[in-house]
Amino acid sequence: MTVDMRSDTFTKPSAAMRRAMAEAEVGDDVFREDPTVNRLEETVARMLGKEAGLFVTSGTMGNQVAVYTHTRPGDEVILDADAHIFYYEAGAPAMLSSVQLRPCAGLDGILGAGQIEPLIRPENIHFPITRLICLENTLNRAGGRIFPLEEIQRIRRLADDYGLRMHLDGARLWNAAVASGDSLAEIAAPFESVSVCFSKGLGAPVGSLLAGDEEFIQRARRFRKVCGGGMRQAGIIAAGALYAVEHNIERLRVDHERAALLAAGIAGLDGIEIDMDSVQTNIVFIRIVHPGKNAQQITAELAELGVLVLALGDRIRAVMHLDLPDDGVERAVAAFSRVCAS
Ligand SMILES: Cc1ncc(COP(=O)(O)O)c(C=O)c1O
Repeated sequence: MTVDMRSDTFTKPSAAMRRAMAEAEVGDDVFREDPTVNRLEETVARMLGKEAGLFVTSGTMGNQVAVYTHTRPGDEVILDADAHIFYYEAGAPAMLSSVQLRPCAGLDGILGAGQIEPLIRPENIHFPITRLICLENTLNRAGGRIFPLEEIQRIRRLADDYGLRMHLDGARLWNAAVASGDSLAEIAAPFESVSVCFSKGLGAPVGSLLAGDEEFIQRARRFRKVCGGGMRQAGIIAAGALYAVEHNIERLRVDHERAALLAAGIAGLDGIEIDMDSVQTNIVFIRIVHPGKNAQQITAELAELGVLVLALGDRIRAVMHLDLPDDGVERAVAAFSRVCAS
């Protein structure tokens, strides 16, 4: 069996999850008559401490519906230069919301309040209107690092001072909660809106959710329809998401332990550098400084040994998830050792 550490999006629904999906009670969700979608929206909104939830197809849709709902054309959105919304969402804020992004490089993905304040535009006819701050937790491109809650609270105070809104891309918020011990609601509290994904570490095949207050979600529901995201008997997929939140959150601890084990197991190898401080959840970023091989070559050689990872520039990303075999980390360490030694 291959050890597939490319992403936690490669998981497949378990037999029990598939059963829950097959047996789901369904209705037309555009008419709000799908009891399973309604239950998912209520359950997850409550977990996040928000009034209402909206089931969406993907994390990208959750983020983009949020950006649209918070802003007006020409507004400016402050976010980290490595944020998924800026880096990996195909230019959607410009295409869908006609907003201008103001990316700024944070320290290890963490854009502090001190960096944000000078970016906020004063009232001046020449400037766009700063409207929204988007943060991410955990930070994908910063190796699954947790955004410190005290810093988020500082940013919230700043946002209040300047009348700005805040959206949280919480694709892996579950990991942040499990690893930090802070509740989902505590971490989400400083934000007007938060999106979470069921199809990453939680193992559901499809779906994300956007949460916020009733009025925000009502407007978001309309824009989801504009995007073609009004689904009919969506309870079939919502059931997989419900199963995921009911069964697969606590077990993320296993993924975090495995990430730490992998990092510790390969950190001393020739040609590899790992910032151990960044290994806080289920992602391990490995910088390749090998004299004879680059990240792509190492990735190809690992694949020949049955270990799949992702090469991203001069780094390799390995992600832990619930479909890894029990000896996955051991086999990955052995494969890295062989490839780096030759
Ligand atoms: C931090 C973050 N946000 C958003 C997304 C987007 O999710 P999706 O692929 O479901 O659109 C991802 C996907 O990996 C992600 O890592």
